[in-house]
Amino acid sequence: MSVIVAPSILAADYLNLGEQIKLVENAGAKYLHIDIMDGDFVPSISYGPDWVKQIKASGSKLTLDVHLMVNHPEKIVDTFAEAGADIIGVHVEATPHIHRALQMIKNAGARAEVVINPGTPVALIEPVLYMVDQVLVMTVNPGFGGQKFLPEEIEKVAQLRDYKKSHGLNFDIEIDGGVNDKTIVEAYKAGTTVAVAGSYVYDKVDPAAKVKKLIEATDF
Ligand code: DX5
Ligand code: ZN
Repeated sequence: MSVIVAPSILAADYLNLGEQIKLVENAGAKYLHIDIMDGDFVPSISYGPDWVKQIKASGSKLTLDVHLMVNHPEKIVDTFAEAGADIIGVHVEATPHIHRALQMIKNAGARAEVVINPGTPVALIEPVLYMVDQVLVMTVNPGFGGQKFLPEEIEKVAQLRDYKKSHGLNFDIEIDGGVNDKTIVEAYKAGTTVAVAGSYVYDKVDPAAKVKKLIEATDF
């Protein structure tokens, strides 16, 4: 068993996006990570639901893993579900109504994910863990690609793995930020099941080789 690789298109060549997506899909990636940034919850602005719609319509079989870095995500989860998101992630820091936001995602037929920033403890999301399909532990502060992996966050992955076992739950544990073929190893050992990688996969010349390296690095 290896980690599920979720390349983030944030670092891709947008003018050749279709081709960039095919490269990672053919190399063994199973998810495609789509970062939505509102210029408020995080300083950057990225792209919106039409991108999800077009990627879905392109015929890609990748699971579309949409990470909402937006304030009050409950206002837009339905729009992203309709656009074709398979998984929708909402930050616990972005709304006082995290339970409602997750309910809405499930009601819309998508997989529900709760996300925590590096400054947020696992304890804060314990009340909603029974209802999620995936938890995303940020391993950088959200908002930008290309930042350095925060190794202290691995402890949260281990906590979540233990919580899963002791409560008979089965959610996936995803990490996002600073992932490469070195940083993934300890995080995988601690219980990571899905790894987002942006600049590691897309910054240099061979995205397919990078996806394969992440799979090989966790094949033990
Ligand atoms: C950061 C985003 C990430 C980003 C990761 O705010 O949530 O998904 O694309 O980029 P890398 O892998 O370069 O840290
Ligand atoms: Zn992300």
